[in-house]
Amino acid sequence: MVSTKRYMRPPPQYVHSWFAPLRSSDVVPGKITNFTFMGHELIAFRDEGGQVVVLDAQCPHFGAHRGVGGRVVDGCVRCPFHGLHFDRTGECVKGDFVDPSRRLGHIKTVPWTAREAAASIFIWHGVDRQRPDQPLPFAEPGFFDGWSPPVTNAGRPLRPTNVFFPTENIIDIQHFYAVHFWELHEIIKEPGEDEDGNFSAVMRMTWKAGAQSPYAVVRRLGNAYQSQFHFDIRILGPGMALSISTLTPEQGGLQLMNIILITPVSPTDCHIRVVTSVKRTVDKPLNRLARRVLGAGLEELLSRVFLAIATKDFDGDEMIWTHRRFLANPKPLADDGPLIPYRQWCERFWPPDYLPDPPDADAEPEPARPKPALVENA
Ligand code: FES
Ligand SMILES: [Fe+2]
Repeated sequence: MVSTKRYMRPPPQYVHSWFAPLRSSDVVPGKITNFTFMGHELIAFRDEGGQVVVLDAQCPHFGAHRGVGGRVVDGCVRCPFHGLHFDRTGECVKGDFVDPSRRLGHIKTVPWTAREAAASIFIWHGVDRQRPDQPLPFAEPGFFDGWSPPVTNAGRPLRPTNVFFPTENIIDIQHFYAVHFWELHEIIKEPGEDEDGNFSAVMRMTWKAGAQSPYAVVRRLGNAYQSQFHFDIRILGPGMALSISTLTPEQGGLQLMNIILITPVSPTDCHIRVVTSVKRTVDKPLNRLARRVLGAGLEELLSRVFLAIATKDFDGDEMIWTHRRFLANPKPLADDGPLIPYRQWCERFWPPDYLPDPPDADAEPEPARPKPALVENA
């Protein structure tokens, strides 16, 4: 049954926002990276200045895949089929076998808007691929001031998963207990839209090590290591959430930043990845020693430990998301958290032409009219 409320209908997978399908380390100078994003086959490479360029894989000349057999030459991608070169604007600038006086600018594809931030490559997906209409906070100058360099890993595929399931979890209070075995002590800011337009919440929680482990012995060990933390979480878009966790003063008041990135890959599948950083409070001489002995700063090592924990913590979620169906008519409880207002908030990321309301949606239904009498055949 189609719900009368648009935000209660099955949401689209290909929504409008910033997404980070690649890590910075996935795009190596001089090489082409092939990847799938929102059902598009794309290529990424670095131009001569090291800036990331993202283009459609398919060559506009005669349709070859520029990432299969193609090369990066002088900051351009050279198509393997006829040797045409395309620059960062997507325009053909020369052909190895074409008269240099030839006009080539009409052979072009519109480049995707890509920004590098938070050890990741973000791509804008919207009505106009060249004009983002939402901000990308991680790319703002000074965003990581006072924090250690962000680290990330390969993340994990979610097959299948609706793009809204992961962020919806962040305000799903009951699931913190049932899936993660976290304990909620206090809600400091009720989940809801804040003055910046993000959907945010502030809570006080306890996390237990190994609570999701299938092994009883690991779960018992976890009872000995549990940690209270202050959890400030902001959902910035369907593919981006930012959490700042602060441990108690007894635990050194350590602050941890996790950026959770979700990317739709196909109409059914997504990918999830976390970026982690810790606040620079770790004692400096100790940090220098760690760098000498271990080859990395203590902050970076800590970030990597927390990154591994955060990635592992999706075990239970993945089981739920990949088997879950979106219900247009769920049966919410007061204990759930504001899932329905969250769905309403998410509607702003829908493509404008996705499941529009019929023009007379708000009109009163017309009273049933008596059927016209059959006209007798003359
Ligand atoms: S198809 Fe790419 S150069 Fe011809
Ligand atoms: Fe979860």
